[in-house]
This record gives sequence, structure tokens and C-alpha cells, in this order.
Amino acid sequence: MKLQRIDGGFHTTVPCKVNLALRVNGCREDGYHELETIMLAVGLCDELEFRPDSTGEFQLQIDFSDAELLAPDDPAWDVPDDARNLVIKGIEAVARAFETNKLGRKLGGNLRLKKRIPSQAGLGGGSADGAAAIMLGAIASVGESFSWKTHFPVCQQVAASLGSDLNFFLEGRASTDTWVATCRGRGELINPIDATVNGWLVVAHPPAGCSTKEVFARLRLGKNQDHTVSNVLESLKSEQLTSLGNSLFNDLEEAASQVTPYIERVRNWFDRYDHLGQCMSGSGSARFCLCDNREQAEIIANDIRSKGVRAYAVQPWMQPSMASQLTAMWLSEP
Ligand code: C5P
Repeated sequence: MKLQRIDGGFHTTVPCKVNLALRVNGCREDGYHELETIMLAVGLCDELEFRPDSTGEFQLQIDFSDAELLAPDDPAWDVPDDARNLVIKGIEAVARAFETNKLGRKLGGNLRLKKRIPSQAGLGGGSADGAAAIMLGAIASVGESFSWKTHFPVCQQVAASLGSDLNFFLEGRASTDTWVATCRGRGELINPIDATVNGWLVVAHPPAGCSTKEVFARLRLGKNQDHTVSNVLESLKSEQLTSLGNSLFNDLEEAASQVTPYIERVRNWFDRYDHLGQCMSGSGSARFCLCDNREQAEIIANDIRSKGVRAYAVQPWMQPSMASQLTAMWLSEP
């Protein structure tokens, strides 16, 4: 995510993610599945603003003016603005953790979320917003004394307690580079990958969502072993876009196909175009294909859009490390 100061508070732009590989390695005793996945941040972004006060109460306003509505009951924008939203959960949890441990001041305030990432898509939109809220809450609570040793681990713990994908959005590489990482455990154990992805992606999201819980419930383990996470990792490290395109896979695809026919439908549409490879993201229903240039990505996105499906031509997301962003932010004028 990218952070900046604004009048009376803070602003962050937070990307979504696609899964370049997703392996399910079995079911755990706690009911979650053990994952090994590679997540790539891409430039379809939400924005979150926070104007803090010390009331102890948080209000959330959501701006859907950039949200593309495909049907009157389009599940993509079925996003609550109350305590069910990960923005409120995240900021309340981090404020509580800091206050209880005497790490920061009492916090409340107004949050304004500009929504562009569709939900129930497997793009991590809700998790991205939740991670942004945790970071904004932490910074507002402790100000310039925010410490990577003392405060950041609390942010990581809060993120992991709220979902499997939040931690990916909290972190970033040590340079201005593609944010891509291997995520293990439930998805919350993050290991950055030293690679640059120079391609373009088309992310397509139909007017039908997939509930993550439902997709995992339909999963039959032990299939689709033709692909491996290490193939994807090697293609990334050698920066071979063609072999990256060939090695994309997602073990949840068959289960998600039982939830909505759009998974197959969009796969068939993508198959008609010239690209380097395609795959479902997360637990669906979004799919993406990889292209080596912007022109081709835009041609595919425009065509898919004409079929009544949201489609975005996007690039991998680059971001400077959080540490360097924070230093620059405190030095800048709001
Ligand atoms: O943690 P998150 O909110 O993303 O997960 C939503 C649901 O997806 C969980 O309640 C669980 O049923 C399923 N899930 C899983 N294994 C994972 C991640 C999620 O079974 N690693």
C-alpha cells in the first residue's frame, strides 16, 4: 500500500492481488486448509482515508462512484459499512491492542473508503481494506514514534487474527519493485520473492461471486498435481513471462466451478485470445490472463467487458518499502 498525509489525517492506496499458484496441502485440525500460494499485487486499487480523533468511535463511509454495477443485485458491491466490514474490524482491533498494551493513544475517527476492487472475487479486496485500516490506525495512534520492532508485530498479529490474506497487504519489498510473495499456513505467513513481473494482466470479474467458505467446503483434495508451486517460483525468478503463463494453476478452480458457471464461461472466453496463460484468482470468481504488452491486455479487456463482465487491464503493483514510505511521509507536508 502507499501512504501519505492529508489535511487532518492519512490516506492510503491499496492494491488487490491475484494468485499465480495456489496449492492446497490438506485440511488442518482447526478446519482451515494448509496453503502454499504465490500472490502478486496488481494495480486495481481501493483508497482509504482516515481522519483520527480521540472519541473511541469509528465511522465508515463508502464511496461506490467508481464501482461498475453489472446487475441490480451485483454481489461485487455488497459491502457493509458497519462493524462487519474489515475496515472497522481492523482499526478497532489495532486501536484496542495499542491502547491495552499502552503503545498508543486512544483513537476514534472517520474513515472514507473508495471502492474499486470487487468483493467475492478472490482478489483480496476486503483484506486489502482491512490491512490499510490497521496500518492507518497504527500510524495515527503512535505518530512518528511508530517502530518496526515494537508496533509492526502487533499490526501483523491483528491482521492474522482477522483473516488469511491481510498480512500480504501489510508488507512490501525493500525496494521499488513488484510486490510478489509466497504465502503459507492459512495464507498469513509471508515470504517475499525477489522478482520483477514485466507483463500486463487482464482481471475479469463476472456479476456472480464465490464465497470462500463455500468453495473450500466443495474442495476434493488430491487432484491437479500436474503443476507445482516451484515451477511458478522458478519462472518468476528467471523472469520468463512465457513459462510463467504456462505454469499458472489453482487447486480451488474445480470447486469454484461448482459454485458459479462463470468460472468455465470466462475461461472459454479467455481461451479465444492470444495471451501467455490464464488462471482463477483465490477462491474465485475472478480470473486473469497474463499478456506481454499493454495493447493486447486492453484489447482483451474491452472485448470481455462487452460480454457484461467487469474487466481491467492492469500492471503488477510496485511499492517502496513501508519503512521508506513512513520516513518520507513524516518529512512531507500534509
Ligand atoms: O480467513 P478467511 O476469512 O480468508 O477465510 C474464509 C473461509 O475460507 C474460512 O472460514 C475457511 O472456511 C476457508 N479457508 C480455509 N483455509 C484457508 C483459508 C480459508 O479453509 N487457508
